[in-house]
Amino acid sequence: MSGTARNFFTLAIIYSLLGMMLGLSMAMSHDHAQMPTHAHIMVLGWLMSAIFAFFYHLVPVAGRSILAKVHFWLAAVSTVGMFVGLFVLYGGNPAIEPVLGVASLGYFAATFIFAFVALSALWRTSAKVPVEQGAVR
Ligand code: HEM
Ligand code: HEM
Repeated sequence: MSGTARNFFTLAIIYSLLGMMLGLSMAMSHDHAQMPTHAHIMVLGWLMSAIFAFFYHLVPVAGRSILAKVHFWLAAVSTVGMFVGLFVLYGGNPAIEPVLGVASLGYFAATFIFAFVALSALWRTSAKVPVEQGAVR
């Protein structure tokens, strides 16, 4: 694994540890107020990043594009904004909501870029495969 795939998997591992530490602290303190923060660090931080990593690993041509790098950095910056924002919000500070709004839109934009990168690479690749394998189309 290298490039964008490795970057995403590194991010995923960091979030898996941070998310579980928060889950453990919630469980130990019997205070589940940060449940949405924990849930999003786990699924958005760990699972989504890991899925992106495996996609870019399986389809290397997608990971090499400039847009894939934009996807990674926008996802990385906006997840930091989302998780810090959620932590502050569920710590009882609703004034942080605008930051969360911007970060959420940033993550949506990152995923939109991924959709474009992934679909264009997939359709290009699948069109080439039978030709490379010598299949008659
Ligand atoms: C050390 C491991 C973990 C601990 C101690 C832990 C702890 C917790 C706790 C205390 C809650 C709140 C439950 C409630 O108030 O109803 C929770 C919710 C949640 N956890 Fe974890 N968790 C762990 C690992 C994970 C992992 C690995 C994932 C996903 C990959 C995950 C995803 C979630 C989700 C999505 C929720 C929200 C569930 C809901 O909406 O009801 N957790 N966790
Ligand atoms: C732009 C990105 C996202 C936004 C703005 C967002 C927003 C929200 C909101 C407002 C809730 C309700 C929280 C509550 O009732 O207290 C929620 C819950 C949840 N979301 Fe998201 N979400 C996003 C992305 C995702 C993604 C990508 C996943 C899964 C891969 C996910 C999984 C969940 C789960 C499992 C819950 C239930 C856990 C909980 O109640 O905290 N979300 N989300």
